[in-house]
Amino acid sequence: MSKYKIAYLPGDGVGVEVLEASKIVLDKVGFDAEYIHGDIGWEFWCKEGDAFPDRTVELLKNVDAALFGAITSKPVKAAQAELVPELQNKGLIYRSPIVRMRQMFDLYTCLRPCKGYEGNPLNFKENIDLVVFRENTEGMYSGVEFNPVPKELSALLTKLSKPFAPFKDLAGDQYAISCKINTKKGSERIIRAAFEFAKKFNRKKVTVVHKSNVVRATDGLFLEMAKEVKKDFPEIAMDDANIDAITMWLLKNPHNYDVLVAPNLFGDIISDLCAQMVGGLGFGCSGNIGAKLGVFEPTHGSAPKYVGLYKVNPIATILSAKMMLDWLGEKELGDKIETATKAVIKEGKVKTYDMGGSNTTIEMANAIAAKI
Ligand code: IPM
Ligand code: MG
Repeated sequence: MSKYKIAYLPGDGVGVEVLEASKIVLDKVGFDAEYIHGDIGWEFWCKEGDAFPDRTVELLKNVDAALFGAITSKPVKAAQAELVPELQNKGLIYRSPIVRMRQMFDLYTCLRPCKGYEGNPLNFKENIDLVVFRENTEGMYSGVEFNPVPKELSALLTKLSKPFAPFKDLAGDQYAISCKINTKKGSERIIRAAFEFAKKFNRKKVTVVHKSNVVRATDGLFLEMAKEVKKDFPEIAMDDANIDAITMWLLKNPHNYDVLVAPNLFGDIISDLCAQMVGGLGFGCSGNIGAKLGVFEPTHGSAPKYVGLYKVNPIATILSAKMMLDWLGEKELGDKIETATKAVIKEGKVKTYDMGGSNTTIEMANAIAAKI
C-alpha cells in the first residue's frame, strides 16, 4: 500500500498538461502515493450541470491531499448556453469549483510564495522573495449575492443604510449586490497563519493589506484582528497598507516586503502582482490549506488558447507539488524538487515559450526530473 492517497484533479484546458508534468517530477523524486482521478471541470458542467460533482467531493473526504490543474470558467449566461439540451432552462448557475472547494473544505489559507529564482529571464528584480497569505473562504468571495435584488432586502437596506442609498428608488432588477463578509474567526486564523509562518521561517515582517479607510466595517475588522494577533508575536514586525498604495509600493520596492496577509479579493490581486514579479503565471504556485486537507494548484487558469499544444510552463504546478510535499511533512522530497527546478532555471538551457524558449511542458518536466 502507498503511504499517501492523492486526489488527482486535472480539470480542463492546460490543467491536464501541467498536472501530467508535475507527476513526472513527483514520480522521479520517489513520492510514495496512490493517485485517484477525480472528475472536475467544464466537461462535467456541460454534461451534468455540475463542474464539481458529488463523487469528487466524496473523494476529497478520503485523501491526504489533492493536486489540481485548472478549470475553464464562463459568465453565468454563457455557461448556461453550453449545457446539454435536457439541462437547459433549469436555472442552473455556474459557480467556480475551486471557490466552492475552498469553502466546502474550509481551506482557509491560500498560501502563495513568490520567489525569484536566479537566472530566470522573467525576474522583475533580483532576489524577490515574497509570501502571500490570502484569506480563502469569505470576504468578497462569500457568494452572498443578489441580482436581481429581492424586495425584502431592498426595503431593509433602504431602512438601514443612511445617508447614501443609491438603490432606494430602483426596481430590484436595476442593481445588484455582492456582500463582502469578514468574520473575526476567518480574519484571525489567516493572520495567525501568516505570523506563524513568519516565526517558523525567520521572516522579519508581516504586512497587512486592506482598505480600512473606506471599507471600514470589514477591512476595519481585519486590521483590528491583525493588531490583536500581533501581540502574540513580539519578535515579528507588522505594518499595514491600503490595497491601492501597496500595488505601487510593491513594484517600486519589493525588497521592503516579506510576508503579506490580505482578505480574499485583495489577496487574489496582490498574489498575481507578486507572481508577475518572479516570472508570471508560469511561476505562480499555490496551496489551499485547511485543518484536514490541502489542495495544491498553479495560480494560472486553463489557458484555452494553448490547449493541446503542451506549451505552457509547468513550473508553477511543479512548485505547487513541492508545496504539497512540504505540507505532508515530506520536506526532504520537496527540497529536492525545488533544488532541481532552481538548477534548470539557472542553467537556462531548457525554456518554455514564456521564458523565451521553445521547449514543451513535458521537456521542462523531464529536465527537472533529470536533475533529481
Ligand atoms: C485564483 C483564481 C481564482 C480566484 C478563480 C479561477 C476563481 O484567480 O486562484 O487566484 O479568483 O480565486
Ligand atoms: Mg487569481
